[in-house]
Amino acid sequence: GKKIGILTSGGDAQGMNATVRAVVRTAVSLGARVFAIYEGYQGMVDGGAGIRELVWEDVGSILHKGGTMIGTFRSKDFREYDGRKRAAVNLLANGIDRLIVIGGDGSLSGLDQFRGEWTQILTELVAEGKITQEVADAHPSLMFAGLVGSIDNDLVGTDMTIGADSALHRIVDAIDALGSTAASHQRCFVVEVMGRHCGYLALMSAIAGGCDYVLIPENPPEEGWEHQLCAALKRGRAAGRRDSMVVVAEGACDRSGKPITSAYVRQAIEDILGEEARVTILGHVQRGGAPSAYDRWASTWLGYEAVMEVLTAEPGTTGPVIGFRGNRVSRVPLIEAVAKTRKVPELIAAGDFAAAMELRGGSFTE
Ligand code: F6P
Repeated sequence: GKKIGILTSGGDAQGMNATVRAVVRTAVSLGARVFAIYEGYQGMVDGGAGIRELVWEDVGSILHKGGTMIGTFRSKDFREYDGRKRAAVNLLANGIDRLIVIGGDGSLSGLDQFRGEWTQILTELVAEGKITQEVADAHPSLMFAGLVGSIDNDLVGTDMTIGADSALHRIVDAIDALGSTAASHQRCFVVEVMGRHCGYLALMSAIAGGCDYVLIPENPPEEGWEHQLCAALKRGRAAGRRDSMVVVAEGACDRSGKPITSAYVRQAIEDILGEEARVTILGHVQRGGAPSAYDRWASTWLGYEAVMEVLTAEPGTTGPVIGFRGNRVSRVPLIEAVAKTRKVPELIAAGDFAAAMELRGGSFTE
């Protein structure tokens, strides 16, 4: 039967387990076999116990759990050609030539590179006597499907990444909790949220939490923004608002590209309003804990689609990123999605904020 390898790579995200479960159970139902590659690409480079078969029962009781039961890692070895060669040997030792990878843009671009080198790697391995010609002939190409697992929701071309909804819930819960203490003291809180170069979590949590002000990388504020922010806080207070809240994306910058830190925002509030403020950096609590209902069902659906993809893929063609567009499952070319994702910080650095927002907003090839 067909053999599929599955791995999770990069930062973990809530819903990764739901995907692993769906992949195993879909594949097993269709008569295929699934091998977990532990600790991301590193398990593939190291081989041995890093690659183990998962059967139906192995993925019981993980649907509702955060993190990833098969581990994740930011593998340096896999970034080297030699590491990828070792990975090919270990895959072939297990008869695997189909991969499902759940990770961020970095993890997915490494995957496409590996696919592109597959034929050359196999030719070299045969010449070096590490695999037989028969094995090479039986696995002429690597087929894959990429799924985006990241709380950041930063991949251009897909509406939601696995984990983003759960992280957003966690942030909004924290904002609600901070709100009650803020209101008691009539105090302002500056909340710093994750997202790397992407302002999705900050923007959406500020809206969902009814916050006063938000700073995101894609829309750097005009010079003098500190006064604008304080004026907004003052207006709120005058209107009877007791809990003031400012959300700062960890990647927020001003128009010159200088990072805007939560500590800086707090100090600006103190200097301008003569009022004490407090900073809360939410940190990894955003990535931990149980996946939301959305992340459970959406990840299950994506896992199913990924199996269908790798079982029916045309050998020799590049694999897609599978995600959602307009509440439908969509397949987008991996290279294009990664290139556009990387373009966003470049556009921001070049001062073309409108184009950055346009890309983030999602006008992908419709
Ligand atoms: O990409 C997910 C993410 O949580 C980002 O939001 C954050 O910038 C980064 O990972 C933190 O990385 P680490 O877990 O290595 O500290």
